[in-house]
Amino acid sequence: ITTRKFALNLTRADLAPDGYTRSVWTSNGQYPGPILQVNKGDRIILNVTNNLVDPTAIHWHGIFQISTNWYDGVAGQTQCPIPNGYSFVYNFSTGDQTGTYWWHSHYLSQYIDGLRGPLIIHDPDDPYLKDYDYEYVITLSDWYHSPSSVLLPLRLAPGYRGRNPIVDSGLISGRGQYNCSAAPSDAECNSDSPQPIYKVVKGKKYRLRVINTSAQSYFWFSIDSHQMTLIEVEGINIQSNKISKLPVHVGQRYSVIISADQEVDNYYIRATILPCEPPPNTTDTIDTETINYNSSVNYNVTGILRYDGASESSLPTSQEWNDEFATNLASCRDLNDSYLIPLTSSTPPNATDTFVFNVTVRPDNTDNITKGFINNSSFVPDLSSPSLNQILSGEDPSAFATSLNSYIYDTEDGCVQITVINTNRVDHPFHLHGHVFWLIGNGTGILGEIDETTFNLENPPVRDTIVVQPQGYSVIRYKINNPGVWAFHCHIEWHLDMGMSAQLIELRKEFQNLTLPEDAKALCTEYQNSEKRSV
Ligand code: C2O
Ligand code: CU
Repeated sequence: ITTRKFALNLTRADLAPDGYTRSVWTSNGQYPGPILQVNKGDRIILNVTNNLVDPTAIHWHGIFQISTNWYDGVAGQTQCPIPNGYSFVYNFSTGDQTGTYWWHSHYLSQYIDGLRGPLIIHDPDDPYLKDYDYEYVITLSDWYHSPSSVLLPLRLAPGYRGRNPIVDSGLISGRGQYNCSAAPSDAECNSDSPQPIYKVVKGKKYRLRVINTSAQSYFWFSIDSHQMTLIEVEGINIQSNKISKLPVHVGQRYSVIISADQEVDNYYIRATILPCEPPPNTTDTIDTETINYNSSVNYNVTGILRYDGASESSLPTSQEWNDEFATNLASCRDLNDSYLIPLTSSTPPNATDTFVFNVTVRPDNTDNITKGFINNSSFVPDLSSPSLNQILSGEDPSAFATSLNSYIYDTEDGCVQITVINTNRVDHPFHLHGHVFWLIGNGTGILGEIDETTFNLENPPVRDTIVVQPQGYSVIRYKINNPGVWAFHCHIEWHLDMGMSAQLIELRKEFQNLTLPEDAKALCTEYQNSEKRSV
C-alpha cells in the first residue's frame, strides 16, 4: 500500500475568479483547491492547517471511509470542527474505489466561499484507459460576491419567503467572466477576466472529469462540434454512450472522452446554469418560495477548447449543439438510466430496512423561518458534541434519534431502501455519505402513486448523488456493510444549512466496537476550549 501525503493550508486571500475581487477561503492560496491525485488502493494522509479565522472540517465526497467514519469530515456529526490556528490530520484508505471525487468543507456553509477541490483515484486497470491519451479535470461551480456568512442569515431571516441567494457568476475550473457594469462602484472589478482554455492536439483523445462543486446550480456541459463519450459516473465505470450535452447537478461527477478530430480551431466549452425553478406566475401552494432567476447574471459560462496551431487571438465562432439529444434533454433532471448502465452488472437485494423520507422546504410555523425538513424534522448539527463521538463513548443513538433526525438500522448483511419524496416544486440533489447506492426508482408522484412494478432491479445505475425531481420521488437501495454515522442530505448547500439532512446510523454494535483515535477525541477538547475563549 502506498501512502500519499498532502497538506492543505487554509487561509483567506483576495482573489478574483470572475474578475470581481473578494475575500476567498483558499487552500494553499488557491481557488479551486488543489487536485488531489492518488492511485487505486492508496492511503491518504492529509494535514489540514486552519488559518481561516473561523473553524473548519473537510469532507471527501464519495469516499466510503470504511472503519474511519471519524475522518468523514462532517462538522457536528462525525467530528468537532478544527478551530482556527489548529491542524488536524485526516488518514484514510481509498480501499478499492477508483474514479472522480471531490473534497469540500462540511462546516456550515463554508464551501460556498471557496473550500473545495477535486479528488481523483487513478486505476491502472481502468477499462477505458486505452481509449484516451490525456486527461483534464474540470470543475463547474457557481460563485457569489458576498461571503456565505452574509447570505445565509438573509436566507434564514424570519418571514423570508424568497429563494436561495442569486448567484453572481458561474465558473469553469475557477474562472468566469463578470460584467463589471453591474458591480458596485467601489468594487475592484475587471470585465476582461480570462476564460479557461483547454489545449488539445489534433488526433488525440482526452478524458474530461467533470465535477459540479456548486452551492446550488445545475449545469449543462458541452463542447461545440465535439460529441462526448460518457464512461464514468461517480466512481462507477459505465457502458459507453455518445452524448452532446451533459447534465450535472451539485455533487455529481462524470467522465467523458472527447476526440480532437475536428478542424484545427477554437471551440466553445459551454457550462450553462439552468434555473431549476417553477415557472413564473404559477400559484404555488406547496412551495412558498418566489423566483430568483436574474436576467443581469450571465448564466452561459464559456471556456475555450484550443487546438494546437489554432489562433490565440480570435474567439471561437462555433455553434452550440442542437442535435436530437440536446433538444430532448430535460432541464434539471438526471440522465436516463439507459445512459448510466454499470459495466459490472449487479442486482440489488431485497430490502430488510425501509424508510420513507418526505423532504421539503417550507416555513416553520413556530419561528416563521423557512427551513429544510426531512419527515418534518429540520437538522441542526451539534458542533461541540457530534453524534459519532456520542455513540463511540457508549451512548445509544435511539436517545437522540428524534432530536437529531437519525435513522437506525442494524441488520447485518441487510439492505436499506430509502424512498425520498420531494413535495416542493424545486429539485433536490440528494447525496449519501459512506456508500454508493442503486437507483431503482425515479419519477413524479407521491407515496401511493409510486408504482413499484416500474422499479429497475436489473443492473440499475449506481452512484452517490441523485436529483429528486419536483413533486416526485427517487428510490435507492444499498447494502448494510459500513458501520457508522452517515449523512444523507440535499447538496444544495443552502438547503443543507436550512436543515435538509438526516443521519443514517448503521450497525450500531459493530460501530461501537471501533475506537475513536486520540487526535479525533482531542479535537473536541480543543474546539470546546476555543469556543469558551471566543465568548
Ligand atoms: Cu459533498 Cu455531505 O457532502
Ligand atoms: Cu434541496
